[in-house]
Amino acid sequence: MLYPLLASRIALARSGFGKKLLAPASYGLISLGVHCKHTLPDLPYDYNALEPYISADIMKLHHQKHHATYINNLNIAEEKLADAVVKGDTSTIISLQPALKFNGGGHLNHSIFWEVLSPHGGGEPEGKLMEAIGSGWCWLGYDVTAKQLKIVTCVNQDPLKATTGLIPLFGIDVWEHAYYLQYKNVRPDYVKAIFHIANWKNVAERFNAAQVS
Ligand SMILES: [Fe+2]
Repeated sequence: MLYPLLASRIALARSGFGKKLLAPASYGLISLGVHCKHTLPDLPYDYNALEPYISADIMKLHHQKHHATYINNLNIAEEKLADAVVKGDTSTIISLQPALKFNGGGHLNHSIFWEVLSPHGGGEPEGKLMEAIGSGWCWLGYDVTAKQLKIVTCVNQDPLKATTGLIPLFGIDVWEHAYYLQYKNVRPDYVKAIFHIANWKNVAERFNAAQVS
């Protein structure tokens, strides 16, 4: 019997997922009895290409040390998994899930992170993406049931509590009317500027009240 994770990995590989985003060498494949290791994908730019926003030192450490460690640990976990599947060792298969989730997630997340940054990035999204993002609000809210903070976006003027159940603690109005006269279409500068005037005392009062509600 093929363990579901292996089956999903094979299906993912067959679907071609990731091939457009990652160099072929970076894409690992498990098939019946064959285990190709994941390898660290090259950055699509030089380590210093994102300066001054992210230094070359950070990029090098983040890529060569952190991302590479996730990949190494993912390879180790997948080897153990393949071995456990062959042996029918269900306890070991289950015990490997946190390592697969953490290191596999670290590999997938960082592979996307390198791609969604660019030395030629910035500005505003365009076309259908911009239409889909639309106008709305970004909220820091409190989930009473989970006792956790959550960051969510709401379209239009949808109020946070009525539409998500979260208690609003801090919100940023990202409708164009809130920033266009001053920041034109550079919404990120407006969002950054908001944090110079954030009233954390008020947010803390809302947080304290939410916790006893
Ligand atoms: Fe990271």
